[in-house]
Amino acid sequence: MRCIVTGGAGFLGSYLTEQLVAMGHSVAVIDDMFRGKKKNLEGCKGMDGYFLVLGDAAERSNYEKAADKLGGVDCVYHLAAINGTRWFHERPDFVIQVNLNTLRVALDFSITRGARFVFTSSPEAFGEQPEMPLTNDSDSLFTSASLHGRHSYGASKYLGEIMVQHAVSNSSLDGRIVRPFNAYGPRLPGDAYGQVTGIFLEQCRKEEPITVHGDGMQTRSFTWVEEVVEGIRIAGELEEGLDGSQLAGAAFNLGSTEEVNVAELANLCLEISGSNSEIHFQETGHPGDSRRRTPDISQTENALGWTPSQSLEDGLRSCWRWLQAEE
Ligand SMILES: NC(=O)c1ccc[n+]([C@@H]2O[C@H](COP(=O)([O-])OP(=O)(O)OC[C@H]3O[C@@H](n4cnc5c(N)ncnc54)[C@H](O)[C@@H]3O)[C@@H](O)[C@H]2O)c1
Repeated sequence: MRCIVTGGAGFLGSYLTEQLVAMGHSVAVIDDMFRGKKKNLEGCKGMDGYFLVLGDAAERSNYEKAADKLGGVDCVYHLAAINGTRWFHERPDFVIQVNLNTLRVALDFSITRGARFVFTSSPEAFGEQPEMPLTNDSDSLFTSASLHGRHSYGASKYLGEIMVQHAVSNSSLDGRIVRPFNAYGPRLPGDAYGQVTGIFLEQCRKEEPITVHGDGMQTRSFTWVEEVVEGIRIAGELEEGLDGSQLAGAAFNLGSTEEVNVAELANLCLEISGSNSEIHFQETGHPGDSRRRTPDISQTENALGWTPSQSLEDGLRSCWRWLQAEE
């Protein structure tokens, strides 16, 4: 396939690009390097069928450039977005603008070029829905907009799913939706705008306090990056589900079914790193943090043949080795 990966220099995008190229597909990445890094794509540099277009995924001309390099386009994997919880609170306007504008342009381009489309949504599209596991039938639950801006991100993903579903039912678009659950692995940002696993390991490395928000009993489904990306890749590769299901308009949860609370994660990071950091519980964390987050993956298993198997402990050990080699 000739694939465009928007946000391909980011955490998930760079692994996806590597996997696609390794599977013999050609890939043109579009990334404006807001949070992407050229270094993430070092492994692809110089490989046959790999191209990089530096620019905004909300600009149609960048898709045309990417398609020209590929000699056409068969599938657009849309990952470009503003991610990282701190941004959701500090710049909800920017999060909404980028996440929806890039999606609108990526969708329009795919419709007019007849390319398959894979949209990376998020479990945050369900907001603070307390009932677990999350299924495609779960309702989204967002608190009052006056309380905090956190749901700028989740709501943008919710609206994004509506845009994709609308395009599937009102045009010829073959659009599929995937929802990664807390992907982690080497390259995950560990700065203040990063994600929890990256942040905890970075705090261990610097022997700084590990900052756990609230009581640390909130759970997540930490999912190994290469497995998440395998699910995203397959969602774009298959003509139809392995169970014979139609994939246009289908949505797939990509998450581990091992539910781990954040305090347990902090302890595991301490154990693996051997760090002298102490755990600090902070009452004021990020408002709107869901208490539990775990997926129903039965549909993903049946249609995509995807089941995660990497243990969190093994995955964290790999992250720690990578972090030390980065120093
Ligand atoms: N990491 C996760 O666990 C997770 C979970 C659920 C959903 N997702 C979704 O998966 C996608 C990738 O997430 P990630 O963790 O790799 O985040 P990331 O921030 O590492 O990657 C996003 C990439 O998009 C790029 N980008 C941002 N705005 C752009 C623009 N206007 N034009 C071009 N490129 C732009 C950034 O530079 C970055 O490289 C995002 O859509 C995210 O919402 C990720």
